[in-house]
Amino acid sequence: MNQTNYYQVNLNANQLYEVYQTELPKVRVYLDAEIAFVRDRLRGTECVLELGAGYGRIMKELAPFCSFIYGIEISEGSAVFGSEYLHSQGAANTHMVIMDAHNIKPNVFDTGFNIVLCMQNALSSMKVEPLSYISKIMSMLCNEGRAYISTYSEKFWEHRLEWFQEQASKGLLGKIDLWQTKNGTIVCEDGFKSITHSREQLEEMGELCGYPYEIHEVNESSIFLVISKIHRE
Ligand SMILES: C[S@@+](CC[C@H](N)C(=O)[O-])C[C@H]1O[C@@H](n2cnc3c(N)ncnc32)[C@H](O)[C@@H]1O
Repeated sequence: MNQTNYYQVNLNANQLYEVYQTELPKVRVYLDAEIAFVRDRLRGTECVLELGAGYGRIMKELAPFCSFIYGIEISEGSAVFGSEYLHSQGAANTHMVIMDAHNIKPNVFDTGFNIVLCMQNALSSMKVEPLSYISKIMSMLCNEGRAYISTYSEKFWEHRLEWFQEQASKGLLGKIDLWQTKNGTIVCEDGFKSITHSREQLEEMGELCGYPYEIHEVNESSIFLVISKIHRE
């Protein structure tokens, strides 16, 4: 089973919510720091799009700091759960759309975006060819808009593994296959596989995308590729 299917069939809605209800302090700090990195760079006026938005965890946190935030999510279960979650949290300036990020229909949105997000390793879970995907992301941005793409830092490996073991112990994932789990890839006995992109791979994407970019390591737990839609002279 590929990973997209896993998120659609197994790890969606309430199960996905449970993934993020972690008891592990380092993981909680990682998740908060990743959101804070973007939040601290918002002015309050931006129209934001999150790709692979899950149940709206990040949307809810960023909504008070931007004008409007849309989320695209392939899993109908997560998107429906997410719409209810966002409503219950009073996040009125949000809207969750059931859509495959491989096949974004721009006419659904009546605006270009100032910010496009693909966070918490969602780029890996989408199984895309990164460069063509980044060019799609850039086409959704207004001039001078920014894309934020984040993956795990290699320094966070032990904590990431501990988090996945916690998920397996809650029955959200199959047992971790410790023999095959290495070099940034977590493999479960039920076929689930979580890969990630390294800092070097993000740098390469930045070099090849044709726009100015920056790489930031946050809290020794996530790595951000930030691309600005500014045309080089
Ligand atoms: C690791 S989760 C992250 C969820 C959310 N960004 C968060 O941090 O709370 C990745 C999400 O991407 C979604 N996803 C995977 N492939 C997708 C695709 N092709 N289009 C839209 N969403 C997708 C999955 O269903 C899953 O909810």
